[in-house]
Amino acid sequence: MKFNKASISASYCEVFGSSEEPLVVRSPGRVNIIGEHTDYNDGFVLPAAIDKAMYVAIGKRDDDRILVYATQYAEFFETSLDQVKKIDQHWSVYVLGVVDQLLKGGSVLGGFNLLIDGDIPIGAGLSSSAALECATVFALNSQFAKGLTRAEMAHIAMLAEHEFAGVKCGVMDMFASLFGRHDHVINLDCRSLLYEYIPLNMDGLKMVLLNTDIKHSHSSSEYNTRRQQCEQGVAWVQAHVPQVAALRDVTHEMLCSYVLPKDNTIYRRCKYVIEENNRLLTACVDLKKGNIAELGRKMYASHRGLSNDYEVSCTELDYLVNQVRTNKGVLGARMMGGGFGGCTLNIVREEVLENLLDSITSAYERDMGKPLSYYVVSIENGAELIPDRKLFKI
Ligand code: GLA
Repeated sequence: MKFNKASISASYCEVFGSSEEPLVVRSPGRVNIIGEHTDYNDGFVLPAAIDKAMYVAIGKRDDDRILVYATQYAEFFETSLDQVKKIDQHWSVYVLGVVDQLLKGGSVLGGFNLLIDGDIPIGAGLSSSAALECATVFALNSQFAKGLTRAEMAHIAMLAEHEFAGVKCGVMDMFASLFGRHDHVINLDCRSLLYEYIPLNMDGLKMVLLNTDIKHSHSSSEYNTRRQQCEQGVAWVQAHVPQVAALRDVTHEMLCSYVLPKDNTIYRRCKYVIEENNRLLTACVDLKKGNIAELGRKMYASHRGLSNDYEVSCTELDYLVNQVRTNKGVLGARMMGGGFGGCTLNIVREEVLENLLDSITSAYERDMGKPLSYYVVSIENGAELIPDRKLFKI
C-alpha cells in the first residue's frame, strides 16, 4: 500500500462528500537509539523519525463542528468546538487533546473535517499516538495559520497526551516526529530543548524492530508511577541540595547519601536514569566516531538497566534481547520506548538479517506461543505538508 497526496485526498473527499482538496500532513513514528525514561527527568534522548507515519487530511467547515474519521477503525467521531471533552480509551483523545490545548492557549479555530490514516502499528511502542497528535497540531497550525514553531507544536502535543490520554510522558516522541531528519538521529537535551543532528552511518547494517505484540494494560499507570518515583528521589535529594531541579542534576553520591537509606526501589529507579544519561552522552561520541559496535554494547547495557533496575521490561522483551545477545551479527539490542511490551530495537549486520529473522520468528512462536512481527526501518524526515505527487512506501 502507498500513501500519497492523491490517495489521501480522494479518501477525504469521499468520506466527507467534499469537492475541495484538503491539506495533507505526514507525521512519522520514531525509534530511540538510547536514552530511555530520561526525557521527563530533564535528561538526554537520541531518537529518530522512521518511515512509518500517521497521515491526516484537513479541510475547513462553515460551522463550528469537528468531524473526524479514523480509517483504521472505519469510524466517525463528531463534536463541536465548544464541546471538546475527553472520552477515556477512545482514539479521539489524540485529536481533541490537541484542539483543547490550542483553545486553552487562546487560538481561534473554526470547524474542520479531519481524516486519519497511517501505517504505524498501534501499541508497538513506535509512538503512533504522538505522531497523530503532531499530525493534528501541524494540520491545524497550517489550516488556520497559527504560526506556531515546531517546538511549540511539540509542547502542545505533549500536553495533549498528559491531559487527554492521561500519560505523563516527556517530549521525546513529539520532538522526534516534528524534528526528524533523513539518516540522522537527534541528540536532544530535554531541559533546554537544544539539539544536534548526528549522522547515522548504517553502511552494511539494518535497524530492525522485533514486535512482541504485547501491550500490557497497566503500562500507562506504571509509566506514571516511574515518573513519580523519580520525582520522589529528586525531592529527597533536594531537601539537602536545594539547587537540584531534576534527576539530571543528581550524582551517584547524592543518591547513596539521601535516597538509598530511604527506599531501595526508588534508589534503583534513579540510579538507572543517571547511568542511562551517562551512557547516552558517551554513545554520541561513539556515533560520531562511527563506532557502532561500542554503541551496540551500550544498548545491551541500557536493556539490563531497564529490565533489572527500572523494571519496565517484560518476559517477551527480555526473551528477544537474550536471543540475539550472543549473535555476532547483532551489534546491539534493547527494549525501546515506555516498556511493558512493544518492540526491541536491534542493529543487525545485513548478511545475517534473513537468517536471524527466520530463526527468531520460529523461536518466538515456539517459546512465547505467539507470532512475531518485525519491521526493518529507515530514518526519515519529520512532519511535513505533503506536496502533490510525493510517494511514501511501506
Ligand atoms: C514513552 C514516552 C516518552 C519516553 C519513553 C521512554 O515513549 O512517551 O516520553 O518517556 O516512553 O523513554
